[in-house]
Amino acid sequence: MSQSYVLNRTDRELDRLDLQGIIYRDTTRRALIEAGIATGMRVLDIGCGSGDVTRLAAELVGASGSVLGIDMDAETVQSARHRAQQLGVTNVRFEVGEATAVAPPEAFDALVSRFFLMHQPSPGQTLAAVARAVRPGGIILMVESHMAGLLDAQHSYPYSKLYDDVVRWKCRVVAAAGADIESGLGAYRSFLTAGLPAPTLRMEAPVEGGADSLVYRYMAESVRSMLPMAGRHGVGGFDADKAARLEADLRDHVLCNDGVLVCWPVVSARCHRGTPDVTARPDRIFTW
Ligand SMILES: C[S@@+](CC[C@H](N)C(=O)[O-])C[C@H]1O[C@@H](n2cnc3c(N)ncnc32)[C@H](O)[C@@H]1O
Repeated sequence: MSQSYVLNRTDRELDRLDLQGIIYRDTTRRALIEAGIATGMRVLDIGCGSGDVTRLAAELVGASGSVLGIDMDAETVQSARHRAQQLGVTNVRFEVGEATAVAPPEAFDALVSRFFLMHQPSPGQTLAAVARAVRPGGIILMVESHMAGLLDAQHSYPYSKLYDDVVRWKCRVVAAAGADIESGLGAYRSFLTAGLPAPTLRMEAPVEGGADSLVYRYMAESVRSMLPMAGRHGVGGFDADKAARLEADLRDHVLCNDGVLVCWPVVSARCHRGTPDVTARPDRIFTW
């Protein structure tokens, strides 16, 4: 990843990743199941962060399968190992490394990843490099955020000006830091650029309301995490005080109005890695 990572590497950032993991758990689990992750598979999770997707995949592959999580950040990998140990998950392994460099060719039945391509300067090329780790016919699943999907203000009911400010500010900071806020729908093009078959796509967004939703804290923690990056890129609009009040202010707006907030839409994009001998068959070339 050539640009600096958008978020701050602190314990708070790990908390933010945990909250994100909970909010997107059902969506991610569905995406893994739909893609065909199943008992006994060997799965590679790239940009695994604190291992949320790695552990979800581990549940699905069971004791006869295994999942390797790779992340370039040593501290994050340490936390992923620690969490897996705490939870007694034994069919996972974590390594520190650059995703494109570590995986041996065709060693895995499936490649999965979440919120990874958006941080790659050339997502198609990165995807081509990491896809080589999957055996022919194996599964490739990228779950990517489409942050830009909330910029048309369809993000709250009733409309929240404060949430609109949060959405716009976060999109500006993430984009200024060099990440792609259209990575979700852009995944289709990334697969084609990678030389992979056209993926099947699904878009989903958590919609949250009520006093106990984690979405208020998740949004507030992300703003806090991004403040240093916003400062470096000259994106104003939030400061530490406003960020400290954000969780309560968002919750108040929602509760006072019996309202809801829409969290970042995510796109799951999946395909099977093609087998050269099948695509070269004459009947595939001349018949459709
Ligand atoms: C937004 S986080 C997502 C973490 C995790 N997949 C999840 O959904 O919770 C992106 C992660 O990708 C890692 N990353 C980004 N580019 C990478 C690369 N080229 N090689 C390895 N890790 C990378 C970052 O260190 C970071 O932990």
